[in-house]
Amino acid sequence: MVALGPLPKIWLNGELVPWEEARVHVLSHGLHYAYSVFEGIRSHRTPHGPAIFRLDDHLERLGNSAKIYRMKLPYSTAELRHAAIELVQANGIADAYLRPIAFSGYGEMGLDPSHSEIDVAIGEWYWPPLLGPTSEVGGTRATVSSWTRIDSRSLPPQAKCAANYANGALAKMEAIAGGYDEAILLNSAGMVAEGTGENIFRVKNDVVSTPPASSGILRGITRDTVLQLLHEEGIAFQRTDFTREELYSADELFFSGTAAGIAPIREVDGRPIGDGRHPITDRIHRLYEECAQGLRPGHGLWLTYLEPQQLEQAVAGEMQARDQAQAWAAYAK
Ligand SMILES: Cc1ncc(COP(=O)(O)O)c(C=O)c1O
Repeated sequence: MVALGPLPKIWLNGELVPWEEARVHVLSHGLHYAYSVFEGIRSHRTPHGPAIFRLDDHLERLGNSAKIYRMKLPYSTAELRHAAIELVQANGIADAYLRPIAFSGYGEMGLDPSHSEIDVAIGEWYWPPLLGPTSEVGGTRATVSSWTRIDSRSLPPQAKCAANYANGALAKMEAIAGGYDEAILLNSAGMVAEGTGENIFRVKNDVVSTPPASSGILRGITRDTVLQLLHEEGIAFQRTDFTREELYSADELFFSGTAAGIAPIREVDGRPIGDGRHPITDRIHRLYEECAQGLRPGHGLWLTYLEPQQLEQAVAGEMQARDQAQAWAAYAK
């Protein structure tokens, strides 16, 4: 956990307000019933100025989460896009984490939120990689949780709703209490699903596997980035279920997520993973960082710059970016 350090502004219901004044009522409906959908996004320093990574994809997922929950967002995607840019400009830090959130506000109680006003905010703060410095160097120590990942018969895992995170919090606390850094949740079929805030990848004999969307995961945008990079690099990959014991026998394991980045897993339940080296993980980590920091040609369209002319500079001479994005869209599942 990292303590929140205040930045000058938070965007709340259409306005930039001082950090300390971004308050809601304790009887806000969403606080009681978790009727709240959100996103986690990062901005990074690039050679052309600060840029937000895959902003449009995150806003699309926010729209889908709201739709699944019959929540009518009071702002359009274009308005939220503009709000995110305005906030990053106002706070003036390039490397930051952005948290758009929409939740049922003050005014009504009871389980049916359909008459509640929806409050929308975007917070921003500095957040180092979620699994701590060891995740970048030696790797995370993980454990298979005794808690089962929610499935779509009870709560929709593909909606990024606050309610889902009670499941993750139970698993995370259990892992920490047991002396580990992170939990890996199995789904109700006993197959590997994901971490508490990350997707998971397994490398065995140079083939990379990650559980499919149907396994109870959140469809991570970092996961999609990793799959696209594997495709570009000609590294074999599959979206397939795997078991707990296949975690233990992996050559490499890593987590992927906006907050965590690409984080190698060093051990699971006291069993060291592979021989301790993680060349494919390291390669993907480097490529991912290059994309996020605007250093990898062909991925300019993943970056939202604060000023339109920065985008023009950044994508000038790399029009294959659009072709690549379209080719991947046709291929991605
Ligand atoms: C449960 C869960 N799985 C996976 C992810 C990774 O998703 P992304 O790569 O879009 O950050 C997250 C993070 O939002 C998450 O909370």
